[in-house]
Amino acid sequence: MMQSKIGSKSKPYYILAPMDDVTDVPFRRVISACAKPDLCFSEFVNVDGLMSPGRKRLRRKLESSVDEPPLVAHIWGLKTQNFEAIADALSSGELADELGNPTQFAGIDINMGCPAKAVLKVGACAGLIKAPSLATEIIAATKRGAKGQLPVSVKTRLGYDRIDPEWTKFLLGSGIDMLSVHLRTVKEMSLVPAHYQELTRLVKERDRISPSTLLIANGDILNRSQGEELIKQYGIDGVMIGRGVFHDPYAFSAKSPWPDIRKKERVELFLKHLTLYMEWADNPDKGVKRLNKYAKIYINGFEGAKELREKLAQANTVQQMQDVISA
Ligand SMILES: Cc1cc2nc3c(=O)[nH]c(=O)nc-3n(C[C@H](O)[C@H](O)[C@H](O)COP(=O)(O)O)c2cc1C
Repeated sequence: MMQSKIGSKSKPYYILAPMDDVTDVPFRRVISACAKPDLCFSEFVNVDGLMSPGRKRLRRKLESSVDEPPLVAHIWGLKTQNFEAIADALSSGELADELGNPTQFAGIDINMGCPAKAVLKVGACAGLIKAPSLATEIIAATKRGAKGQLPVSVKTRLGYDRIDPEWTKFLLGSGIDMLSVHLRTVKEMSLVPAHYQELTRLVKERDRISPSTLLIANGDILNRSQGEELIKQYGIDGVMIGRGVFHDPYAFSAKSPWPDIRKKERVELFLKHLTLYMEWADNPDKGVKRLNKYAKIYINGFEGAKELREKLAQANTVQQMQDVISA
């Protein structure tokens, strides 16, 4: 039952990675319209914030839509009681109802991999690699809150300043349903190639310690076919793709049409993104800077793309952005 919502070992999983300030509802809708992942992770949401008066603003990061695959709530924080309370609200359906989500969450994922300075300073996310006893308490609290009604997973890295087999062994022994490993250390950030060779060891450890835990590889996997190769080569249960969608919004497709897609369709896809963003955002014009970051995905690979992006960067409102690209 635990695995039914995040998948089973019979079918490999292709998952959209959590990316803060990127994988919001409009972007997930665009990606899903191009080629649907099997699961999406939300942006990371702080459980301590969700249990504070800031809940109403923060919780929007957990919204979902009918157009996308099941959503895993990707959470972080420091207070175990807040992990438990939020896991309870996620598993009981309370949060999905509060948000008016069309479907319930598919799982709860704990962020133990983010290397941002601000979170490391307080010992959260990847900081937990240095604090396994707190990590144990957080996993236990989340599982208590989930009450067996939602799977609980962890996304992490190979270690802190070195590849540390004890860390991933510890996680595999913690009773989680899925472990996603960004195949680099915290210290390596994203500066070296992902260590795929570690997958042989990870699969062996998973098989020995917790055969039912799904093992997902992450890091530098650009598209589905590259993921398929890794799945075949190492016998992992799936892959997670993040930045690959910046190069190809059809990254989850078996055979991406993107290289053959010309200016007109690329512009149309960006217009679609702008429309979805306008529908979704409380104050769309505040998102102009953010939308300009996405412009690089679509307004790319054709003559005049750079000039068009420069014009878009001058816009102050979403309407102005729409006017620039429709001109
Ligand atoms: C803009 C951005 C935001 C990210 N935010 C998160 C996050 O909130 N939580 C997390 O676990 N990883 C986060 N990541 C890391 C990705 O999920 C992923 O592990 C990493 O980019 C490596 O995978 P890739 O090579 O497929 O992109 C972020 C990455 C990027 C580029």
